[in-house]
Amino acid sequence: MTVDVFTTRHPFLDGKAKRMLIGGKWVEAASGRTFSSINPATGEVLAEVAEGDAEDIDRAVAAARRAFDGPWRRVKPYERQILLLKLGDLVERHFEELAALDTLDMGAPISRTGANRQRAVGMLRYYAGQAVAIHGETIENSLPGEYASFTLKEPVGVVGAIIPWNAPLSSSIWKLGPALATGCTIVLKPAEEAPLTPLRLAELCQEAGIPPGVVNVVPGYGETAGAALASHLDVDKVAFTGSHLTGQKIVAASAGNLKRVSLELGGKSPDVVFADADLDAAVPGAAMAVFANSGQICSAGTRLFVERKIYEEFTARVAAFGRGLRIGDGRDPATQVGPLVSAEQLDRVTGYLAIGRQEGARPLAGGERLTEGDLAKGFFVPPTVFADVRDDMRIAQEEIFGPVISAIPFTDIAEVIERANRTSYGLGSGLWTRDVTKAHTLARGIRAGSVWINCYQAMDPAVPFGGYKMSGYGREGGKQHVEEYLNVKAVWIRTG
Ligand code: NAI
Ligand code: MG
Repeated sequence: MTVDVFTTRHPFLDGKAKRMLIGGKWVEAASGRTFSSINPATGEVLAEVAEGDAEDIDRAVAAARRAFDGPWRRVKPYERQILLLKLGDLVERHFEELAALDTLDMGAPISRTGANRQRAVGMLRYYAGQAVAIHGETIENSLPGEYASFTLKEPVGVVGAIIPWNAPLSSSIWKLGPALATGCTIVLKPAEEAPLTPLRLAELCQEAGIPPGVVNVVPGYGETAGAALASHLDVDKVAFTGSHLTGQKIVAASAGNLKRVSLELGGKSPDVVFADADLDAAVPGAAMAVFANSGQICSAGTRLFVERKIYEEFTARVAAFGRGLRIGDGRDPATQVGPLVSAEQLDRVTGYLAIGRQEGARPLAGGERLTEGDLAKGFFVPPTVFADVRDDMRIAQEEIFGPVISAIPFTDIAEVIERANRTSYGLGSGLWTRDVTKAHTLARGIRAGSVWINCYQAMDPAVPFGGYKMSGYGREGGKQHVEEYLNVKAVWIRTG
């Protein structure tokens, strides 16, 4: 059944959302506790959600282990492919509903969540293809005598996936896809701010016929459920997306059994605009590299380096573009910028707006929380552009995770490469120019996992995405993503 979530209360919100999926059963939290998931556009409670903690994580990991050691180990690659394709079909069929749940739970406008159909479904179909493309190698060796040597690729085992709230549907799929493709089992811990879509997706996993225990979803807080998953001795790998501070805790928690860890963390990504660029494309490009999803994107191009001779004109145009964006409740199809996800994020972002002013940056647009009319009920911050930002200001160094551009002038290419790299992060980067030499020089000079030239934030399941430096390690997307979920076993046979 597909439900128009904006006009009808989804039955799921009063049913399974109160429970969690463990070993194929929808169960209450062992503690019996729930927490409220709210709509950040209105502050209204959407649903009461089971509050999982260490005991529930224990149960879920045990279920995932049983499934991994049981019949799931003998499921053939093509059968896993079929399951992923079925899940892809179900996500396609229920896409409006999933996109609307994302909008309600974390605030991103439906004009954004509803446009990601191909991305969500395409990811599942890409990993369906990967399921039948896993193979080891035959390796010629130099030993005296006769030995054959080859490698096997085996699933790493039970995966703990911990995801943030800024793109609940895609983040869930980016963990489920490779886990299912490789034959792992998974315990997914959604973010406490946005657990609804991952829970609904768990229901679709069951409908697709994914066996009990292969996919488990335990909502709960980071400090309890998340920490228990990260430190669990029977979890073989943790796949984490979120802040670098939590990433550091996860690495420390992994030490107990030296589990494998992959980390997709934050950024302070540079976006460099040269005077020779197509400015009519660069203005909206650079603006939406930050204002999309209210700036709550790990690779947002928040340090906007603009060549000095066009600095005043270009920053004024970006500010005007930001002021022209329609802000409001994401349920309205005309909305372009929704609220921030929570009161906590609102405090964090408005805190940085104050810091920027104290540091002497000049606001060209935005700069204050919006409280007119209905906006007062939600957590709305308008697109903000700070000019006269220096590299050493906190607003130029720290991830704000809000719709805030720090615009910085530069003079020449060697200088901008050095300054763009003066950050502890290295996730995304962008540049705008018509000069192929400049484009090439920057693409090689910037230390970041992605470089977008005359575009920003292009993503595809086949193309790797991930960080340098404190933006983390491991890659999502592409063949390398699948390797993160596989072990390599060398097999030797004495043949002579
Ligand atoms: P967070 O990193 O604390 O939360 C992400 C996930 O980690 C959530 O599921 C949370 O429950 C879990 N978590 C929290 N503490 C944990 C722990 N000790 N052990 C295991 N799991 C734990 O991020 P938060 O607090 O939601 O946002 C704070 C800032 O982090 C943002 O302002 C932004 O700068 C950054 N962030 C970056 C994201 C990215 O995509 N790279 C996503 C979300 C936040
Ligand atoms: Mg947190």
